Amino acid sequence: MSLATSAPSFAEPAPSALLLLGRGVDLASERGVECVGGLPAASDPDLVERARVARAALGDRAFVLGHHYQRDEVIAFADVTGDSFKLAREAAARPEAEFVIFCGVHFMAESADILTSDTQQVVLPDLAAGCSMADMAAIDQVEDAWDVLVDAGVAEQTVPVTYMNSTAAIKAFTGRHGGTICTSSNAHVALRWAFDQVGGVEGTGKVLFMPDQHLGRNTAVLELGLSLDDCVVFDPRKPGGGLTKAELEAARMILWRGHCSVHGRFSARNVSDIRAAAPGVTVLVHPECKHEVVTAADMVGSTEYIIKALDAAPAGSTWAIGTELNLVRRLAAAHPDKQIHYLDSTVCFCSTMNRIDLPHLVWAMEQLLAGQTVNRIVVDEDDAHWARVALDQMLALPGY
Ligand code: 13P
Ligand code: SF4
Repeated sequence: MSLATSAPSFAEPAPSALLLLGRGVDLASERGVECVGGLPAASDPDLVERARVARAALGDRAFVLGHHYQRDEVIAFADVTGDSFKLAREAAARPEAEFVIFCGVHFMAESADILTSDTQQVVLPDLAAGCSMADMAAIDQVEDAWDVLVDAGVAEQTVPVTYMNSTAAIKAFTGRHGGTICTSSNAHVALRWAFDQVGGVEGTGKVLFMPDQHLGRNTAVLELGLSLDDCVVFDPRKPGGGLTKAELEAARMILWRGHCSVHGRFSARNVSDIRAAAPGVTVLVHPECKHEVVTAADMVGSTEYIIKALDAAPAGSTWAIGTELNLVRRLAAAHPDKQIHYLDSTVCFCSTMNRIDLPHLVWAMEQLLAGQTVNRIVVDEDDAHWARVALDQMLALPGY
């Protein structure tokens, strides 16, 4: 094609043209979530003031939760910040708040709805804030997988353990099948509890771990002493999960084939590169990273663990952190006396966490003040009941 003879016009994009972020509306795409009354412009010079006014006017009627991976502009208005476990507990502990505004992703807001009363309303400021890992396990796939375990004769000795990063429907499946939810900060306790239901870690019982294969593998091998050979990966896109009856019978950990698109980017090469570039560095990564990254690192832990480790670190120490970039940037700003590197050489925000920005938060709060609850997250009654059974099991785990 000759560039000279086919100069394109950008005035009228074709219906299928790529939309610039925040411009135009494509309701069929993840960007096309309509905001009733219009979203404030990100360039509005009064945006921060509007946020302050709206937050003050809502007062105790609202409680704003902010996950550690949220943008700075949103964290500035959070009443509490935390990892997914802490935020679930905080949501459950605020029965007086009429509105729980969840600055995080969809599965977290669902959990908050399940753990709060029917009179409380949970709001997710942007409905496009999903999670690619949670999307890797659909409820019909999970039910089919269970049928595979039943047919192989292993379902009765299998307990489902489901990571918080999953839909309410899968949490409900877990509750119906006598399992528990876990987060990255209590996965080891949840796994021990699950094995205890079927004869203990030393026995022959199994755990079906969904949807993050890395958290399941890392916890089983590094914290419970199981071996890599005890772990098999169930691929929901393959017949029978891609596993033979003999493989299912021999397995102790049946890991769902899912991963986090952010933590999955870190590589063992990143670890060796940073060790060469910054001698004496301590490498600290999240357990959603691949097994070879976690074993190459010096320390592994949830977002709360990472924050506490840096708080306790001596001045002058050097760190490389493998988790989401919004958190690592804030940690670097909070610890000017320590050298903090990002483990990946390219930027690595969680794009869906980043969907919640100040315009969406202001919009949600102003709509609430105008008497309209927007983007309310409601889990259907039956799923909510069974998901609550699994979440309550997690909240009752020893030590939590
Ligand atoms: P935690 O908040 O449990 O550390 O999990 C990290 C994460 O990926 C949340 O989406
Ligand atoms: Fe999902 Fe990973 Fe983003 Fe967490 S960081 S919300 S697991 S994609």
